[in-house]
Amino acid sequence: MLAFLYFVQMLINLPKMLVLSWNNMIFPPSDSSQHFRISTVSPSLWMTSSDINANYRTLNLSICHVSIQVATWRIDDVIVDGTSCSRILKIDKLGGQRVTVDILKAHGEIQRISEVVKSERKFWMVSIGDSFSSGQGNPDKKSENGKKAEWMDEPCYRSTKAFPYLISRHTPNSALSFLSCSGSTVENSIISKNGQLEHLQRLITAHGAPPDLLFLTIGGNDIGFTDVISLIQRDSKITDKFDMRFFFVSHQIDRVAWKLKEMNVSRVVLLDYYDATKNEKGEVDGSCGAFGRVSLPNLQLADRKILQRLNSLLRRKAAEHRWIAVDTTDIFRTRGICSSRSLIRSRNESMMLQGNEYGSFHPNEEAHRLIAERIVKTLEL
Ligand SMILES: *[C@@H]1O[C@H](CO)[C@@H](O)[C@H](O)[C@H]1NC(C)=O
Ligand SMILES: *[C@@H]1O[C@H](CO)[C@@H](O)[C@H](O)[C@H]1NC(C)=O
Ligand SMILES: *[C@@H]1O[C@H](CO)[C@@H](O)[C@H](O)[C@H]1NC(C)=O
Repeated sequence: MLAFLYFVQMLINLPKMLVLSWNNMIFPPSDSSQHFRISTVSPSLWMTSSDINANYRTLNLSICHVSIQVATWRIDDVIVDGTSCSRILKIDKLGGQRVTVDILKAHGEIQRISEVVKSERKFWMVSIGDSFSSGQGNPDKKSENGKKAEWMDEPCYRSTKAFPYLISRHTPNSALSFLSCSGSTVENSIISKNGQLEHLQRLITAHGAPPDLLFLTIGGNDIGFTDVISLIQRDSKITDKFDMRFFFVSHQIDRVAWKLKEMNVSRVVLLDYYDATKNEKGEVDGSCGAFGRVSLPNLQLADRKILQRLNSLLRRKAAEHRWIAVDTTDIFRTRGICSSRSLIRSRNESMMLQGNEYGSFHPNEEAHRLIAERIVKTLEL
C-alpha cells in the first residue's frame, strides 16, 4: 500500500520533475553573470535635433539568453508594457537608469534581474558636400517596370550605397548625419542660409558637442566640373580662364574651414576627386564616347589642368587646415569611364538605374565600397 502511494505520488509529480530538469537543462542554476545583453539599434541617422534626443537613448536590451518568459519590465521601478525577452528601451543620457526584469521560472517562480543601464556615447559622423558623397548614380533601389528609383533622399540623391553610409554601418555604435546633397556648391548649399553647415550647427546644439568625424567633398561644382568638357571643346585656351575659378575655390574652401573651426569640428576628412578619364592601361581615354566628341588632347588637358589641379589644391588646403586628406587616386588609376573595369557610371547605366542621366560620371557602388574601405583603413575606424 505504501509502495502504491509512493508510486501515485511520483506520477503526480512527474510533470513537475520533468519541467524542473528541463528547466535546469536550458537554464543552468543561475550565477552572478546574468546581465542584460545590450546592443544599439544601428545605424542611427541623426538628421534632426529630435533624432539626436531620441536616438541617443535607444538601446536594445535582451535577457533572452537567460529566459524567454518575462513577466515584467521596469524602468526606475515603473512598470513598462511588454513581456518579450528583448526590447528597445529609451535610456536617459544622464547617469543611466535602473532596468529591472522579472523572469518566470518553473513553478511560477520568479527571478529578478536588475541593473543600471547607461546610454553609451555614440561616435558621431557627419557628411557634408556634393554628389560625390551623397552617392549620386547609385539609387537604393533601381527604377524598374515603370517604377521610380528609390533614394534615401531623392532631391539630394542621397544613397545608402554611398561611402558615408557604408562607413557608419561598419562602425559600431555610430550615428550619421548625412547632409551631402547633389549639386552643392559652397555658396549655394554649404555655407548658405539654411545650408548644410547651419543644419549641422543645430545638430551640434542638440547634441551638446561637435561631431567626432566629418567627411567633406567640396570644390567640384565650385570649379564647374560639369561645364569643363563643353568649355574646352569650344576653346582649348580655357584653362587660363580657370585661374580665376581656382582662386575663387581656394577662398571658398577657406570659408568652410573657418566655419568648421568656429563650430569646434576638429577631425575633418577631405576626399579628393576621382579621375574618370583613365582606361585600363592608365591612359586618358575617351574612345568609348562618354565624353562626347571632345578630342583626346583636350581631354588630357582637362584632366591635367582642371582635375589634377583641383586635387592638388584640395591637398594643399587639407594640410593648411589640418584636415585628413584621403587619396583615392590609385583606386581610379585604371578604372575610368572608358576602362574595361570602369568604376564610373555611364550615361546609359544612369538612365537604366535611376531614369535620368544625372548619375553619369559618378562613382558606382563598387567605387563607394572601395572608398569606404580606404577611409576606414586610413582612420583605423
Ligand atoms: C534585440 O536583441 C535581441 C538579442 O540579440 C535580438 O534577438 C532582437 O532581434 C533585437 N531587436 C532589435 C529590434 O534589434
Ligand atoms: C567651441 O569651443 C569653445 C571653447 O571650448 C566654446 O567657447 C565655444 O562656445 C564652442 N563653439 C561652439 C559653436 O560650440
Ligand atoms: C547607350 O545606349 C544607346 C541606346 O540604347 C546605344 O545606342 C549606345 O551604344 C549605348 N552606349 C554605350 C556606351 O553603351
